[in-house]
Amino acid sequence: MKKARRIFLSPPWTGEEERRAVESAFDSGFVAPCGPFVDGFESALAKLAGRRYAVAVSSGTAAIDLVMEHLGVDSSWTVVAPTLTFIATVGPACHRGAKLVFVDSDATGNVDAARLEEALSRRRGRTLVMSVDLYGRCADYGAIASVCRRHGAVFVSDSAEAVGATRAGRPAGSAGLAAIYSFNGNKIVTTSGGGAVVTDSKRLADHVRKLSSQSRENRPWYEHREVGYDYRMSNILAALGLAQLGKLPAILARRREISEFYGGFFGAESGVEMLPPVPGENHWLSVALFRSRRGRDAALSRFAAADVEARPVWKPMHLQPVFRGAETHGGEVAEDLFARGLCLPSGTGMTARDMERIGEVLRG
Ligand SMILES: Cc1ncc(COP(=O)(O)O)c(C=O)c1O
Repeated sequence: MKKARRIFLSPPWTGEEERRAVESAFDSGFVAPCGPFVDGFESALAKLAGRRYAVAVSSGTAAIDLVMEHLGVDSSWTVVAPTLTFIATVGPACHRGAKLVFVDSDATGNVDAARLEEALSRRRGRTLVMSVDLYGRCADYGAIASVCRRHGAVFVSDSAEAVGATRAGRPAGSAGLAAIYSFNGNKIVTTSGGGAVVTDSKRLADHVRKLSSQSRENRPWYEHREVGYDYRMSNILAALGLAQLGKLPAILARRREISEFYGGFFGAESGVEMLPPVPGENHWLSVALFRSRRGRDAALSRFAAADVEARPVWKPMHLQPVFRGAETHGGEVAEDLFARGLCLPSGTGMTARDMERIGEVLRG
């Protein structure tokens, strides 16, 4: 019998629309990190985020790095971030020698505003708060913005996972001085690899755009007043991104269905519940919370045996060997989510047969 194919956590979902878009970018002759698709993608992203400007770049990490470069983040800065996130939220700050401070989550997994307040009230000097929209669920932008305002901290939103999400009518990425998106291969909208900065600040957008292309001055020769980066997105990838954005409503609807499928699975007596919902989430990954770490690990092993990809919730940054000893405010909630949480296969292209297979594993 033919072996069933592996079910991945969140693989790209692409088809004819994407193929045609990429071919048309290719045929247009703009096989370069500029061109009409980049402009179109940036306009579409700015609209989606409810922002004036968007700058498309080569990855979400590059987007974070560029915003930090614009701010001048260096060893005199403190960067405060939720401990429950992917390392890229703080990686660029680490390379810049900034002091890292981690903050615990609330029950939804997003940063706990009271803990954030506690962290900021102990800070002196220039401080950047990188909040995170965990697993496609917008953080409480209003609460974070007011804590940052009270303490004179800059607020930037890492909305890498939240493209297409909203909260209280505000789109993901609409808060703070700037926000970033990721279009990496496992994200809800992919350009295979890519990212963007969205902002209402013309100064920030212009500077980030310039920095992303080696900070070249507008001269016939190569003139530089500062050192930049090579982080621009290519026209071909932007074409792919535009085609994906055209399908965003269908992607969001399908991800919601998948999340509802899991929600229906875990009844009161199952000992498993879903991570508390945040209205407007994009359901990038559905996350189940088991009663104990043992239960979670047993499920993880069953998934692995069935060739189905599932993954524990992000390991908190304060538990990472590389950040041992970093100042951390709380941490118990994030540790508990890491111990009991499992990200379940959530790919837009999952078939009814895939879901049956997943159901069999879960019933086991
Ligand atoms: C929260 C978060 N921040 C940043 C990134 C970095 O994005 P990229 O992989 O596009 O560099 C990711 C995803 O990969 C992420 O999940």
